[in-house]
This record gives sequence, C-alpha cells and structure tokens, in this order.
Amino acid sequence: MKTVTSEAQLHAEIAEAKAAGKKVAFVPTMGALHQGHLSLIEVAKRHADFVVVSIFVNPLQFGPNEDFDKYPRTLETDSAQLVEAGVDLLFTPTVEVIYPGSQEPTKSAGPVGSVLEGAVRPGHFDGMLTVVSRLFDLVQPNVAVFGAKDAQQLHLINAMTKRDYPSIKIIEAPTIREAGGLALSSRNRYLDEEAHEVAQQLSAALRAGAAAVHPGGQTNPNLVIETATNALATPEAKLEYIALVDKDTFEPIENGFSGRALLLIAARVGETRLIDNTELTF
Ligand code: PAF
Repeated sequence: MKTVTSEAQLHAEIAEAKAAGKKVAFVPTMGALHQGHLSLIEVAKRHADFVVVSIFVNPLQFGPNEDFDKYPRTLETDSAQLVEAGVDLLFTPTVEVIYPGSQEPTKSAGPVGSVLEGAVRPGHFDGMLTVVSRLFDLVQPNVAVFGAKDAQQLHLINAMTKRDYPSIKIIEAPTIREAGGLALSSRNRYLDEEAHEVAQQLSAALRAGAAAVHPGGQTNPNLVIETATNALATPEAKLEYIALVDKDTFEPIENGFSGRALLLIAARVGETRLIDNTELTF
C-alpha cells in the first residue's frame, strides 16, 4: 500500500491505476478504524480492482462544542490495518490540501440536513457534504462505499452524488455489530465498561421497535416509536430522538405508509453521543 498526502501524488497514482484499466473504489474515513471500516473495504474490493481509502478528520463537520480536538487519531495502527486489508492507496491529506482557500462549506444539505442529526448538530451535514464533494473531486472514483449506520449522511450523499457526480456509484454497506448488538463506531472507544453495557440498549430498543411491525399487515408507526422508546427506559442513556422515516425521502412516516422505513435512534451515554438505525418494511 502506498500512502500519499498531496493532490499531485494522488492524481499520479489514480491516473496510473485507471490507465491500467482498473476500476477505482473509494472509502472515505476519519480514521480510528475498526471492523466496520474494514467491512467497507471488503465491499469496495468486491466492486473494484483498486481501493483508495482516505483518512481526514474534517473540521467542517464538527460543531464548536463537539469532539474535534479529542477525536481519536491513530494513523499508525490504521495504516497497519489497511495494509492487512489489502488497500492499494491511502490518502492522508492535510487541511490545506482539502481546503486550499477558505474553510467554509460549499455544499448545502437542504431541508433533510436540518432535521434529526442536523437539528442536534447544526451545520454538520453541510460540512460533511463539502468534504465528500472535495474528496470526490480529488479521487474521482468509479464507486464509493458508505456505511448504513450513518443513514442520514448516506441519504444526503446519495442525493448529492446523483445531482453532482452522476458517474460515481454509491454502495451502501451494512452496519457491523458487536455480539451484544452495539453498532461499531469510532466513538465506542470513549465508553468505559459500564457505559458500554448501557450503549447496548440502543440496538435493543431498535429490535423492540422492529418487533412491533406487523409483517404483511397495517402497522401503526406511533406504536413502533412508542415501543422502542419504552424499551430504552434506562436513565443512563439520554435519548435525543427515536424517529421513523421513509428510507427514500427521509420524510416522517404516517399511518398507511407502505415501503422501506428506517427506525433511527440517537442517545447520549455519559459524554458520548451514539446513533444507530434499523431498516423496516411496512
Ligand atoms: O462517516 C464518516 O466517517 C465521515 O462523515 C466522512 C464520510 C468520512 C466524511 O468526513
């Protein structure tokens, strides 16, 4: 695996791969890699011949009171894992390479960007789309892989890509979970043993909500939300929201809906903010 930091080095490597007829897959990350990221790389390898991973902790997608400064930066172990996973190219740009001009968002996430995660984290999705767009411009991949765990992010990236990068195919990779159900996340490393136990309750709440769906019959969306909310009745987890949305539009689901839905949860366990979701069919 080669590691490059400049735009010129990146272009040279990608041009060489493309000239050799290789299909390029891209997996953008913020590092602190875990099994979830490695599963994205596995998916990327199935869809392409040359896999590029980026590690860049994007200041634009962190709010003033968020964990940008303490976000785990573990480049050495990340890099070793990427070699082991068979990645071809690691791109570790500096802030100056990503934002050569001003550090202002150049993308707007629109109305979906200001509900749920966007309501709790104002500006987060504009910053996230801005960096993904910049990375797409730099890497120019054929396919890019994103995890289903960040469902609202994935929805917004799909919409931006369809509009601005129609030649890039976005692939959704399933959430990887611990045996107890907790979705893997770089922020799980903030959890001590006790908090880790409480954090398992998020996925348990989603499973309880999912069990309230009537397969093949009419399901009351409020009952699904209520069931999930009651299942999280543990004071150690501070619920921010449980919501049910149409997977395709991110509109809230109303009675009579049929199709693919997402049951979404966000909660704080101690200082750590966790999100998760599960797909349901109505
Ligand atoms: O999901 C992430 O890790 C980040 O939001 C992403 C897509 C790498 C953009 O910084």
